[in-house]
Amino acid sequence: MEKTFLMVKPDGVQRGLIGEIVTRFEKKGLKLLAGKIMVVTEEQAKTHYIEHESKPFFGSLISYITSGPVFAMVWEGKDSVALTRSMIGATKPTDAAPGTIRGDYAVEMSRNLIHGSDSVESAEREIANMFKADELVSYEQATAKWLY
Ligand code: TYD
Ligand code: MG
Repeated sequence: MEKTFLMVKPDGVQRGLIGEIVTRFEKKGLKLLAGKIMVVTEEQAKTHYIEHESKPFFGSLISYITSGPVFAMVWEGKDSVALTRSMIGATKPTDAAPGTIRGDYAVEMSRNLIHGSDSVESAEREIANMFKADELVSYEQATAKWLY
């Protein structure tokens, strides 16, 4: 089953939105394999956002993501990467549809609340950057037979 890496960013943690955000993915039927509150190191942040290294916003992005605790998670489910990206909404909050997390709660692109992996390959790399393999829990999801 497909895994994805999701992270409530420092603004989401400070605004008390962890529960609201986790609830949406739980209700969708995704399975939570790992979750922790943590402060991302400079090195982890640079690895996580390596694809944006040459962009003008890279410096401020690294400062923002390391500015306070985040809530890092690994979720699993059929098409979990695409499903969670659509639930998160567009990067720019003015483009994010109502009903999406960013569409409902975010105002600024530089404070857009949540990260979600954009491919299965990114998810693998991002999970390995933030979690040790034994932090992911494997278990039967009681609702699985009603979802799939
Ligand atoms: P990106 O990977 O393009 O977006 P997403 O989070 O939707 O996958 O960009 C990573 C983050 O960088 C994005 O969530 C917000 C920030 N960002 C800016 O601050 N300015 C920008 O012009 C872009 C494209 C992104
Ligand atoms: Mg991205």
